[in-house]
Amino acid sequence: MSSTFGTVFKVTTFGESHGKGVGAVVDGCPPGLTISEKDIQPQLDRRRPGQSRLTTDRDETDRVTILSGVESGRALGTPIALSVANRDQKPGDYAAMRSIPRPSHADYTYQMKYGIRAASGGGRSSARETIGRVAAGAIAEKYLYERYGVEIVAWVIAVGKITASEIDVNRITREAVDKTIVRCPCEPDAEQMVKAIKDAKEAQDSLGGIITCVCRNVPAGLGEPVFDKMEASLAQAMMSIPATKGFEIGSGFAGTRLAGSQHNDPFVKREDRLGTLTNNSGGVQGGISNGEPIIFRVAFKPPATIGQTQDTVDFDGNPAILEAKGRHDPCVVPRAVPIVESMAALVIADMALRQRSRGR
Ligand SMILES: Cc1cc2nc3c(=O)[nH]c(=O)nc-3n(C[C@H](O)[C@H](O)[C@H](O)COP(=O)(O)O)c2cc1C
Repeated sequence: MSSTFGTVFKVTTFGESHGKGVGAVVDGCPPGLTISEKDIQPQLDRRRPGQSRLTTDRDETDRVTILSGVESGRALGTPIALSVANRDQKPGDYAAMRSIPRPSHADYTYQMKYGIRAASGGGRSSARETIGRVAAGAIAEKYLYERYGVEIVAWVIAVGKITASEIDVNRITREAVDKTIVRCPCEPDAEQMVKAIKDAKEAQDSLGGIITCVCRNVPAGLGEPVFDKMEASLAQAMMSIPATKGFEIGSGFAGTRLAGSQHNDPFVKREDRLGTLTNNSGGVQGGISNGEPIIFRVAFKPPATIGQTQDTVDFDGNPAILEAKGRHDPCVVPRAVPIVESMAALVIADMALRQRSRGR
């Protein structure tokens, strides 16, 4: 089903950008897990619009309410419904786009698929849909941390043409990532990124970027070959986030330039398992986690809605000039960081529970 993700830890998201609200239903959460709104809200706060001058001016508090599946702070094993109200809506901003599809947005394709669409704010194609993923991901993360000590941290490594220096994936923390509003932990690079985004915003334009994510302490043995290999499921999860254009794991595309003798990750003995000296595999071999950090990158395009006038055609094919009003992100990567972390948590929690169902 197109709005449902996962096999055992199963999440269905609902809602449109300008409807009454958005959220998710989580089915398959292990009963007994301690969970409350306080576990979920911090990640929603990191995702919410209006959090800094680099994001859209739409101002939403995005307070989550747990409607079901939790009693006295513990999961009952029944569906957990999570709801967030939409408040700061200005559907009038989208009047021009009722007749003119935004170039490179989803207006035309949604119309072709459904024959109808939510004309204000992109409806289901809007990033507001990702609130449900982030809320559900916080529950998955809590389970993974308590059961295995899994830590998931994502950060911005590129904005437009600016790329940050390498950072230590074994030590990076969310606190370090959140020290800069662009969520890049390398401060001199972060400053340049902030300036680039501000310049793009002033020019009523937009910029793309890249996010790296590391998942530490993932036990060896997770992943479901052959079609639900760990990297295949991560790629599907990441590429389902709006505005994504690429996914690479481990050495990724750059690995093609190495010889096998340079690319292989030699095994070494660790305390209770084998580890690897290098991690070109990105923590996954044969679609199964090997116990090393899982490392991947996700590419995001420059968002489509820009204030500059654009020559295009209307839905009937007549020449038209689009002047997009409304409040839009000049670059999505700072806000996409918690979305990437949440989707990673959903994949790994589902893989962990699938492995447990084998008695392993
Ligand atoms: C956090 C986040 C915020 C976004 N904000 C905007 C925005 O303000 N304006 C816009 O045109 N697209 C924005 N997008 C991207 C659109 O939702 C997306 O480009 C659109 O649905 C078309 O889908 P596609 O780019 O995946 O093909 C955002 C995406 C994310 C992840």
